[in-house]
Amino acid sequence: MARAKGLVIAIDGTAGTGKSSVGRAVAEKLGYGFLSTGGLYRALAYQVFAKQVDPADEKAVLETAQKMQFTFERQPDATLKMFVDGEYLGGKLHLDEVAQTASKVSTHAAARAVLTEKMRQAGRDGGIIMEGRDIGTVVFPDAEVKIYLDATAEERANRRVKQLVSKGNPADYEQILASIKERDLRDSTRAASPLKPAEDAVKIDTSNLNMSEVIEAVLKEINKYAS
Ligand code: DC
Repeated sequence: MARAKGLVIAIDGTAGTGKSSVGRAVAEKLGYGFLSTGGLYRALAYQVFAKQVDPADEKAVLETAQKMQFTFERQPDATLKMFVDGEYLGGKLHLDEVAQTASKVSTHAAARAVLTEKMRQAGRDGGIIMEGRDIGTVVFPDAEVKIYLDATAEERANRRVKQLVSKGNPADYEQILASIKERDLRDSTRAASPLKPAEDAVKIDTSNLNMSEVIEAVLKEINKYAS
């Protein structure tokens, strides 16, 4: 299917595999937009927390999702900056508590359907790289290129520690590793759109690759499609 602005490129995988950094870099090279869809689940988690909704209450979480207005503004670095009800939530979405709650609220099928629709609207004209857990399987099963990134939990915890330390933040390796494993387990065993590679996804293990090697590997797959 030809889309007005180019391809839809899906990058799925576990937390901490470099999906965002790789996706953003590749999008910049292609002149595409880049959307990190975990941001929508994180924003829902943030609202659930702010409104003191129980993350296990399926109906209340759905109602919260339905009331949220998402808008996206393309930045010079390709990122689609997300606003919720006109507000940029920024760094608030990156707290570990928000990530854990995001993983919880994202187990609800009805709330997922609401956010999935927002993602489809953002990407339907193509010219976009979308990063998440179910882009190639559910959001855009017809994506032209599908990549699935993975790495060992230990390597991902190491990367997170380095990232936090480089920003001058405290980092506890064991706690980070446990949090990664907890999230992986919930994301991959939930009934609604569990994290798994699409059958036609190209799987890349990034454990022993640096960022430029992963970017190269992804660009190679995109070029294969284009030629
Ligand atoms: O990629 P992230 O860490 O920002 O994602 C936060 C949570 O959102 C993740 O634990 C699972 C959920 N998520 C999802 O279920 N589907 C997506 N497409 C993206 C994220």
